[in-house]
Amino acid sequence: MAEQTYSKGLEGVVAAESGICQIDGQGGRLYYRGYSVEDLAAHSDFEEVTYLLLYENLPTKDELAGFRKRMRAGRALPVPVQEMVRSFPVKGDIMELLQSSVSYLSGYVEHRIHHSDICNCRDTLHQIAQLASVTATAYRFRNGEDYVPPRDDLSHGANFLYMLKGREPSEEEGRMMDVLLLIQAEHGFNASTFTARVVASTKSTCYCSVSAAIGALYGALHGGANWRAMNMFDEIGSPGNAAQWLDKALAAKRKIMGMGHRVYKVQDPRSNIVEQFIRQILEKGGDDHYYRILKAVEEEFHTRIEEKGKPIYPNIDFFSGTLYTLLGVPRELYTPLFAVARAPGWLAHILEQRMDNRLYRPKSLYIGPQPREYVTVDKR
Ligand code: COA
Repeated sequence: MAEQTYSKGLEGVVAAESGICQIDGQGGRLYYRGYSVEDLAAHSDFEEVTYLLLYENLPTKDELAGFRKRMRAGRALPVPVQEMVRSFPVKGDIMELLQSSVSYLSGYVEHRIHHSDICNCRDTLHQIAQLASVTATAYRFRNGEDYVPPRDDLSHGANFLYMLKGREPSEEEGRMMDVLLLIQAEHGFNASTFTARVVASTKSTCYCSVSAAIGALYGALHGGANWRAMNMFDEIGSPGNAAQWLDKALAAKRKIMGMGHRVYKVQDPRSNIVEQFIRQILEKGGDDHYYRILKAVEEEFHTRIEEKGKPIYPNIDFFSGTLYTLLGVPRELYTPLFAVARAPGWLAHILEQRMDNRLYRPKSLYIGPQPREYVTVDKR
C-alpha cells in the first residue's frame, strides 16, 4: 500500500502548481504574476490588475481600454437583481447576499464549461463588477436609501464609493479605495481560493466556484479580522489604555486582531501601503482617533512580544479598518469588500485550475468503529 501522509488542515501540503501569486513570507514581499504589490499600488489600478490576473500579462493600451469598457458595462444592477437585494432578509449578512447574488447572476449566462473545458471567467466580468455594486446597494437599501446607478468614468474603487454614498469621492479618496482593493486582489492558496479551485475542479461553473469562495471567506478565521480590530480599538478607547488592556488580553491568551500572519514572518507589505494612505489623510486634517490607538497598541504589543523573543508584526487588517473609517466605509462592509477585492484572484485560480484540471479528492484517515453487526431497533 502507498505511504499515507496526514497533515491537519493540509498545512504544509502542496496541492497544485500556480503561476499567479508569489508570497515571500520571510522577506515580506508579495507579487502578482511577477509584479510587486508596491509597484502595482503605485502605478496600476484595480481594473488593470484584474486584467493581469485573468490574462497573465499586463494589457496594451488598447487592450486595457477595451477591458475597462467591458468591466464598467457590467456595473449596473438589472432591476431583478436590485429587487433581490432589496428583498433579501435583513437578518442575512451581506456576505450571504453576495453569495446569493453571484448565483442569481449565473442564471443570465450560458455556461460553456457545461459543453467543453472552456470557462466564462474572462467574458462575464459582471461577476466582478457587480459584487461592488451589490455591496454598496445592499447597504443603501438597508438604510432606507435608493439605488445609485453606477458611473462609467470612475475607477472601480471610486465608483464603489460613489454608489455607496451617492456623491463623487475626491480623486485621492477614489484612488485610495481602488488601491485598497487592488492590494487584496490575490493572496495565493488561502481557504477561499482553495475552495474556489476545489469547486472548479468538479467542472462546476465559475459562478458556483465564486459563490462557494465567498462562503469560505465569510468565516471568522478568514475574512473579518479588520472589523474585529476596529471593535478592539473601540474597546481600548484611548491610547493611554493600550498597555493595561494588552496586559489583560495577553494574560487571558486573547489573540490581538490584526497582529501576526501564517505566511508573513515580517511586516505584511500591504500594511505599509495602507498605513501610508492613513498618514496622507491625517496630514490633511483627518480624524486621528483610531490611528493614535492603533499606534499605541502596536508599540505596546511589540514591547511585550519582544520579551518573548519572537517578533510578531501587524498585518493589513490592523490598518485597513482605520483607512475604511477615514474613507467613510461602514464596518459591516469590510468583509464584503474583501470579497469584492478578491474576486479577480478567485477567477484567475479557477481559470488556472481548468487549464490542467485534476479533481481534488483527498482521503481522510479513518478513526471510526470497525465493521460491526447491525442490531434491529427492538433489540437495542
Ligand atoms: N496575538 C497574540 N499572540 C499571537 C498573535 C496575536 N495576534 N499571533 C500569534 N500569536 C502568538 C501565537 O499564539 C504563538 O504563541 P505560542 O508560541 O505561545 O503558542 C506565537 O505568537 C507564534 O504564532 P505563529 O505561529 O507565528 O502564528 P500562527 O500561524 O499560529 O497564527 C494567525 C497566525 C494569523 C492565525 C494569528 O497571528 C492570529 O490569530 N492573528 C490575529 C487574527 C488576524 O489578524 N488575522 C488576520 C490574518 S491576515
